[in-house]
Amino acid sequence: MIITTEIEELSSLEELLPDERELLINASIAKENAYAPYSRFHVGAALLMENGLTILGNNQENMAYPSGLCAERVAFFAAGAQYPKMAIHKVAITAASELFPSNHPIAPCGACRQAMLEYEMNQKSPITLIMRGTTGKVYRVKGISQLLPLFFHEEGLKAHA
Ligand code: THU
Repeated sequence: MIITTEIEELSSLEELLPDERELLINASIAKENAYAPYSRFHVGAALLMENGLTILGNNQENMAYPSGLCAERVAFFAAGAQYPKMAIHKVAITAASELFPSNHPIAPCGACRQAMLEYEMNQKSPITLIMRGTTGKVYRVKGISQLLPLFFHEEGLKAHA
């Protein structure tokens, strides 16, 4: 058996569904409020919740570098904190650097993939992920699991009654 994952490459925004285009615009707006004085790399994430609500996140850096957090986890943790029982339908991610053009899709780091996947597993429905730079092609995956096929998942870590 061979395990494969599926990533769609779309050459233009027109190929996205209208709600996905809107989510990318919201991610782009979110990136404007990133706090990224160290990397000067501004990332925005926008979540579409099952009730139609949009939740925004952006990277928040800190002078003690590892204390900062990526845009994706800022958005997912905000959703978890404010709407713990509400499913997340889609997430769009985009980025812009102050130093160079960002014209290819921005893909989430490994730690964010692991964190996002746990929300997906808990809600038992896939979260569509849309990725784009400031311009250029778009990547879309139908589920976070597509980006993390072999992931850390250990039921024994949970307390059993
Ligand atoms: N960053 C994100 O916000 N999301 C990612 O998926 C990758 C990286 C942020 C972290 C840091 O503030 C800056 O981008 C440079 O790594």
